[in-house]
Amino acid sequence: MPVKIIRGDITKLHVDAVVNAANSSLLGGGGVDGCIHRAAGRELLDECRLLGGCKTGDAKITKGYNMPCKYIIHTVGPVWRGGHNNEPELLASCYRKSLELAAEHDCTSIAFPLISSGVYGYPKDKAIRVAMDTVKEYIFSHDDIDVYIVVYNRDRFEIDEKLYSDVNEYINANLPEMYSGSITEQEPRMNRDIPDDFDDYYDVMSIFSDREASVSEPLSSVQEYSTEKISFDDSLESMLDNMDESFSDALLHIIDSKGMTDVQCYKKANISRKHFSKIRSDVNYRPGKSTVIAFAIALELNLDETQSLLRTAGFALSHSNKFDIIIEYFIIHGTYDIFQINETLFKFGQATIGG
Ligand code: APR
Repeated sequence: MPVKIIRGDITKLHVDAVVNAANSSLLGGGGVDGCIHRAAGRELLDECRLLGGCKTGDAKITKGYNMPCKYIIHTVGPVWRGGHNNEPELLASCYRKSLELAAEHDCTSIAFPLISSGVYGYPKDKAIRVAMDTVKEYIFSHDDIDVYIVVYNRDRFEIDEKLYSDVNEYINANLPEMYSGSITEQEPRMNRDIPDDFDDYYDVMSIFSDREASVSEPLSSVQEYSTEKISFDDSLESMLDNMDESFSDALLHIIDSKGMTDVQCYKKANISRKHFSKIRSDVNYRPGKSTVIAFAIALELNLDETQSLLRTAGFALSHSNKFDIIIEYFIIHGTYDIFQINETLFKFGQATIGG
């Protein structure tokens, strides 16, 4: 998954580059800046002293020292002053300049805190939007880097208030009483094959240097074999349903029918090139549920078409868990921005999609 939102302590990540939300002196401070300087050790400050400070929106790179990362990229976010002092542009520049510096140093993985969303007072829901929009734009033209947006404290992670209340209302209207707790509180019904959410979990766990670091627990996407036959009119979903096609054949057919290129599709699905080429080259490839959903979102399928594509891989959306209901909410509202969907899933303690 080229872009992951994870929960944890950024100083513990085994990535090539960790980004520090610094101040213009680059001589340390509180917040994540303080955590990073404490974790990296004294030598970091000695190197920072040689950098001559950093302008807001710019970024400078040092070694990682005692942290498990190769590099630390120090960037200075804008102080929030109401949003009419170029704050969004300066914040976007922090992410862009950091990504460019990481590329110059051949980094294949980078972790960002939510820059400016602490001491500098940038509203968290706006800060995450700028982060995701900037990172999304960058990875659409660059293939070779995994980006982690690291949230230190999920409770203080915010998304757009109206979106949050709409989704919450939709969940309450559709989640049967017996499933009222979040799926992590229930005994998740395991899939026959481990869904890629767990791959995602082990993938994320593999970048934490110690196992105590908390990460968003993966969710077994509940696998429901739908028994009722949804009646189809003669369109994409009936074509899918009548085809005796594997998931990967069906996927490639739909990409063609939508006039998309493979690259456009897997990038919009937040799927890595490597993962897509596995799907393309193996007609019997067995995707996890979240991978199928990621492609349904990228292809902007409606609910019936999504159910049909899920059925080719043996899955279905149901009202038995929050994850499925949130996905259904976005599909019926025609909102196909996978990064916004992932922010919402993360906010509701659910696994994110892509892979
Ligand atoms: N890992 C990940 N994220 C963290 C960590 C951590 N160990 N510690 C804090 N954060 C998060 C905060 O929860 C917040 O969401 O980093 C985000 C950025 O908050 P700040 O560290 O306060 O950074 P910022 O708002 O950009 O303010 C920068 O604060 O620490 C000083 O020297 C720094 O003057 C500069 C200013």
